[in-house]
Amino acid sequence: MPALRAGDLICGFFELEWSMLDIVTIGAEVLTRAAEPVKDFDQGLKDFIERMFDAMRVGRGIGLAAPQVAVGKRIFVVQVEDDVPRVFVNPELVRTGERIVSLEEGCLSIPGVYADVKRSAEITVQAWNERGRPFTLDADGLLARVVLHELDHLNGVLFVDRLPEAAKAKVLAQYEKRRRY
Ligand code: NI
Repeated sequence: MPALRAGDLICGFFELEWSMLDIVTIGAEVLTRAAEPVKDFDQGLKDFIERMFDAMRVGRGIGLAAPQVAVGKRIFVVQVEDDVPRVFVNPELVRTGERIVSLEEGCLSIPGVYADVKRSAEITVQAWNERGRPFTLDADGLLARVVLHELDHLNGVLFVDRLPEAAKAKVLAQYEKRRRY
């Protein structure tokens, strides 16, 4: 039987093999469209989330969204600094603070390039965890930043899309140059 890849996922999470998930890079269509809500909180979802953490850690990232592994579902995982690992399923941003801060961001789907991005400093997000338990999280600092970055992924937005046109062109040119070597 041919191996199923994450991108072949149609009916459920059970069909995935337990192999390392491949992270897709900018240019992949799945990174440009809105992801679909998760309906079933089952063992397959838990397994998939474990594999997302594996892929995130191998890539030395602090956040990873399902579209980055070619699965168009509203799921992301985060682990910043000494914080606990956090899972967000079907997340909704319910509050954004007025204070805007500029922080440097990178992305496992645009490897090797970084740029300062302006976003809200404080947020409140509601989501479900992998067991289907709802929670509300107030976040600031790096955690707020990563959550906003990953939320964007669920809506087909990359951090470079948040940059002024000239800055975006510069970062993408840097990325293309890196990619060719
Ligand atoms: Ni990213």
